[in-house]
Parts: sequence; structure tokens; C-alpha cells
Amino acid sequence: MRILPLLSLCAVLAWASAVSDYDDEDDGTPLSFGNSTRGFTVDARGNRPVSRGRDTYSPNLYVPPPISTGRRYRGRPTAAPVGGKPEALRERPVEAGGCTHASDQLGVLCPTGCELKTTILKQETNIKQAVAPLSRQVDELSRSSNNIYSYVERMSNALRERQKVVDGNGQVVSQYTDTLEEQHAYIKETIDTAFPSDIRLLQGALSKIREKIQKLEKAIQTQQVNCREPCVSSCPIPVVSGKECEDIFRKGGVDSQMYLVQSGPLSPGYKVFCDQTTKDGGWLLIQNRMDGSVGFGRRWDDYRRGFGNVAFDVGKGHCQTPGEYWLGNEHVSQLTNMGPTEVLFEMEDWSQNKVHAMYSKFTIQSESSNYLMSVDGYSGTAGNTLEQGATELHGENRTMTIHNGMMFSTYDRDNDKWIPGDSSKQCSMEDGGGWWYNRCHSANPNGRYYMGGAYTSRMAKHGTDDGMVWMNWKGSWFSLKTMSMKIRPFFQGK
Ligand SMILES: *[C@@H]1O[C@H](CO)[C@@H](O)[C@H](O)[C@H]1NC(C)=O
Ligand SMILES: *[C@@H]1O[C@H](CO)[C@@H](O)[C@H](O)[C@H]1NC(C)=O
Repeated sequence: MRILPLLSLCAVLAWASAVSDYDDEDDGTPLSFGNSTRGFTVDARGNRPVSRGRDTYSPNLYVPPPISTGRRYRGRPTAAPVGGKPEALRERPVEAGGCTHASDQLGVLCPTGCELKTTILKQETNIKQAVAPLSRQVDELSRSSNNIYSYVERMSNALRERQKVVDGNGQVVSQYTDTLEEQHAYIKETIDTAFPSDIRLLQGALSKIREKIQKLEKAIQTQQVNCREPCVSSCPIPVVSGKECEDIFRKGGVDSQMYLVQSGPLSPGYKVFCDQTTKDGGWLLIQNRMDGSVGFGRRWDDYRRGFGNVAFDVGKGHCQTPGEYWLGNEHVSQLTNMGPTEVLFEMEDWSQNKVHAMYSKFTIQSESSNYLMSVDGYSGTAGNTLEQGATELHGENRTMTIHNGMMFSTYDRDNDKWIPGDSSKQCSMEDGGGWWYNRCHSANPNGRYYMGGAYTSRMAKHGTDDGMVWMNWKGSWFSLKTMSMKIRPFFQGK
């Protein structure tokens, strides 16, 4: 019975191919590592060292400083002002446009159902493909079993004939017949017992798969019905809204949950998750990873607009649980350009250890500057990866892993500093997500999500450290369990 393990292997492969799509624009030719035609050696540890020849690396000599002047807020008032009823909620449909990215204005995204649909659809095709050859095998088997049955039939007849003849013959022949009878009995028994049970097993597996496909088809139909109408968020949106989470906090929105953010009275709003409890609150979540449910290997356009699930209602009537998402470079650029902004990276390994990195200045320039990022003013426990690069590397090798002053890159838009213009040298294509790659990274918060932490270059799609990595805490070959980025207007004297 080799079919069953084969079958589960098929399922696993199908699942894997549905999940890993971060460079689906790749032309399929595997990139070679450690042994390319040019003798270029890739050290799969954050950076890509220069090789002899025409390869050079020029670090940024000038990094535009992040915005540090202009005061948007005075210190926090000691007590949150009364007024506004943050708990008063009303239900309203916030999205339109079915299953792709809903209305641009709301900056959002479909509820999980729609993402589920895509995944299910992908899987369905794979399973169908896996089942087709299996069906054929079962058919063949039952055909060949029929052949064997008729063969045995013929043999039985022959035996009967022979027995008639044997009756008239002597003992020698009867001995021969005994052997033949034995053999006949053995073959018949095998066919009557072992063979049908094998077939039954196979047929059972097949019908189980058919059942699964039917279930999938049903789920897809339900999703199609659900998605025909514009998606309606089941999360009630709190009445209090504001320019950003700090503004919302000061207006009385002091619970951590999903809110609507509007940069001006006429601008369309979009949903965000506000963390109003960590370090005095007022934090606007711009990136969140926690379970690998959303793929981060996405195009420029997705990173520009944002993707993922802002928040969930876990049965309490509000959306208090953030989902995995990227708010979108456009929003982040607009928010950080309103004035001095601080950013907080929080992360956790797989044994409940937590560290953070905070930068008191954080600015993302506009799309025309490819969302260039600058940071300053580090404090924290995770290591100043963004400004100093990976401390395990030295000299130029370390400089290559600094993120401060880098432009944003995705697999379809290469703005990194690894041989610009060479399409086979793209950090984003190898390292799993969109990010402010240099040549290439010391921090990779948008990398692939690996369950359990430790992973190896053999598990990585391109042999590089493409996990959710923060090198100065856990090195290249440990992918974190959670990671988030939150921003807040910087103000003195909290
Ligand atoms: C490089 O590739 C060649 C040809 O594919 C192979 O013979 C050689 O062993 C490889 N060298 C290394 C170091 O992998
Ligand atoms: C950079 O890395 C390469 C490859 O590991 C190594 O040969 C080189 O000496 C390193 N350079 C520095 C300055 O450490």
C-alpha cells in the first residue's frame, strides 16, 4: 500500500504550494547559491558580501533625518477628558466591493472569509489534480482484479477438465494435481481476501477525498454567496474617531480596539487598530504578525494600500483583537509626515520572552521617494538593528544590514542596494516580504512565518534567512512568534 502515504504527500505539497507565494512573479528558474556561474557567493546570513570583480557596494553617505520639529500635541492631560461616549456603538457597513480590496477610501480589506475563499479555491484545484490520477489508479486496479478473477475462473475450469482426465490416470498424476490444487487454493484465497481489502481501502480513501471536495465546494459556494454582496464588517465602529490613535485617546477612546481614522473632515476614513494601553496608549498599529494567517509576500501595490485583517470580534461585541495586517505605506507616510512620530517594535519568541525597540523619530517619505525610511533615537531591549545593522557582522558587511535611510522594496519593485539594476539580485525576492532592504537585512519583520522559531537554510525557499527575523536578538535562523509596529506622535512631557 504505497498509495496512501503518496496521497498525504500530495495533500501536503498542495497545501505548501498554496501557502508560499511570495515571489509568484518569479519566472520559476531557481536562483543558484554558493555556486553561481559568476562565482558569486551568497552568505545566507542577513547580508550579501561583495565578491571580487565588478561587484561593489556603496553605503548611503547621507540619510535624511526624520522629522523632529513641529509640535502637534502638548503633554497628556492627567485625566482623560470626559465627553464622547466611547462605548456607544453603532453598526454600519464599512466596506464595499466584494472580495478584493474593498473601497480604497476605507483602506480595507475584506473580512477573513474572503481570504479564506481564495485559499480554498487554490486548494480545491490542487486536490482535484491529486485525485484525478488516483481515480485512474483505482480504475486500473479494479480492471486488473477483474482480469485476475477471470484468470482464476479459467484455471478452475481447466482444473475441472483435468480432474476428469486424471480420474482415468494413475497416482503420478494425482500427485501433480494435489500440487496444482494447493496452488489454486492459495491463489484463490489471496484474491478473495487480501486483494479486495486493498481495493476497499483505496476506494475508502477515494470516497473520503470526494467528500472533502464536496465540503470544499459547499464552502466555496457559501463564500461566493457571502461575497456577492459588499462585505459588511461585523465589527461595530466606535463613534469616537480622530486623526490618529493619540487624537482618539484624547477624545476619550481609551479602549484598545478598532477605530476609524480620518486625517481631515473631508478625507475618507480607514480602519486601524489602536493600542490604548501599552506605554500610555495612543499607539496606531501599522504592522502585526502573530499566527501566520496572512501572507506577507506581496506586491508593491498591496504594500502601498495595505492588506490583511485589521481586527476581530472574539465575541465581546467589539473588535478588540488585532489581526495580521500591514496598514499601507501610503497611510504610514501621511501619518508620519504630520509631525515628529515615534515607532515601537514589539516582539516575542516562542517561549514567551518579549523585547522591544523604540525609536523616538520615525518618518516615511512619499511614494515618489519610494517610501524612504529614517529613524533616530533608539531605546529598548531588542537591539538597535535599524541604525546599527547586525552586530554579529563587521565593517562593510554590517553596513549592508542597516535599514535607516533605505527605500522600500517588494519583489516586483527593487529599490534595495544589492547591485541595483540586476534583477537576479533582489533582497525582497529572497527574503520573503516587502521591507526597507539594504543588502539585505538585519531585521525582517515582514518575512515568512515559521512555526516554532528555529529554521534552517534548507527550509527557506531561497536558502536565505527569510524568516521573521530580528538578528540582534535571536540571530538569522530564528523566526519570531509575534511582531508588531506601532506609531504615535512624539510629544514631550507625557
Ligand atoms: C558547483 O557546481 C558545479 C556544477 O554544477 C559542481 O560540479 C560543483 O561541485 C559545485 N561546487 C560547489 C562548491 O557546490
Ligand atoms: C565580509 O564577509 C565575507 C564573507 O563572509 C568575508 O570574507 C569578509 O572578510 C567580511 N568582511 C569583513 C570586513 O568582515
